[in-house]
Amino acid sequence: MSIAQPAIVPDRGAFALYVVMNVVGNKQNVIAQCQSIHQLLTDLNTDQQDAKLHASVAFGKAFWESLGQQSPAELTEFRQLGEGETIAPATGGDILLHIHSNRHDLNFYAFRVFLEKLSQDVEVLDETYGFQYLDHRDMTDFIDGTENPQTAEDRANVGVIAEGEFAGGSYVMVQRYIHNLPAWHRLNVKAQEKVIGRTKPDSIELEDVPAASHVGRVDIKEDGKGLKILRHSLPYGSVTSDHGLLFIAYCHRQHHFDAQLESMFGETDGKKDQMLRFSKPVTGAYFFAPSMAMLNSL
Ligand code: HEM
Repeated sequence: MSIAQPAIVPDRGAFALYVVMNVVGNKQNVIAQCQSIHQLLTDLNTDQQDAKLHASVAFGKAFWESLGQQSPAELTEFRQLGEGETIAPATGGDILLHIHSNRHDLNFYAFRVFLEKLSQDVEVLDETYGFQYLDHRDMTDFIDGTENPQTAEDRANVGVIAEGEFAGGSYVMVQRYIHNLPAWHRLNVKAQEKVIGRTKPDSIELEDVPAASHVGRVDIKEDGKGLKILRHSLPYGSVTSDHGLLFIAYCHRQHHFDAQLESMFGETDGKKDQMLRFSKPVTGAYFFAPSMAMLNSL
């Protein structure tokens, strides 16, 4: 059986780190660090019993293929979507490192050790530290994750490729969103609920979900089946600087991300996700997280 990388299936701890990098130097050095991050975290978990550190390392299509590897069938580079004020930029990246745990300090420590030997070899495009906010809420104060698959079995079925050459692997999507909270808080609760498509106190789906609400855009069915994804997003930032949601999700198909993004950014039926009036993505990239065996064979 092909085993997925450790960060993917377990639920996240209270803290996470998301780093997107380009490789500018020795690829083999970089791959060696990507392989050894898992042992580093295993050692830290042995020393620090409550830490529950988990990582996954994923690769952008061009970099993956530059290693002489074939890409899984659906993997593409992220393409820019939308127009005018509502754009999802494509900012790319060769490598994504995602660590989650119960310890912000150890996320920082692990990345510092990871980078120590790579200062000449990678350029960091984005390094974002996420934290659990209130009772699993996004900074809009709405609960985020209600419809995420919950059991380990469901999470693995949604998040990980089950069969074939790429079994144990996963498609990954990352977008960093910056929220405009003053504008958001000018809406009353009823108006906010119409933007999200769920109630604010307890995340119950509205009886009549507006088509342009967030849920109305991303709750997509094909042949009667919902396009599920496994989200690992967390809020990030500081009050006086950028803050919002670091959106990250894993899936056994990239098609689910493509369909949800096209729907959010007005490319399916011209309707745009109303949430995008209050939050703008500033990064966007697709990656492939190989199984442990495939990562170790590079
Ligand atoms: C649901 C927030 C971006 C996909 C939700 C919910 C909230 C939320 C509050 C409802 C509760 C839940 O089921 O988790 C946000 C925020 C975002 C964001 C604040 C960025 C600013 C995205 C993106 C995608 C996405 C980029 C995918 C491309 C989903 C899906 C659901 C969901 C699939 C579950 C829908 C359902 O089945 O009812 N999101 N989201 N979200 N979101 Fe997002």
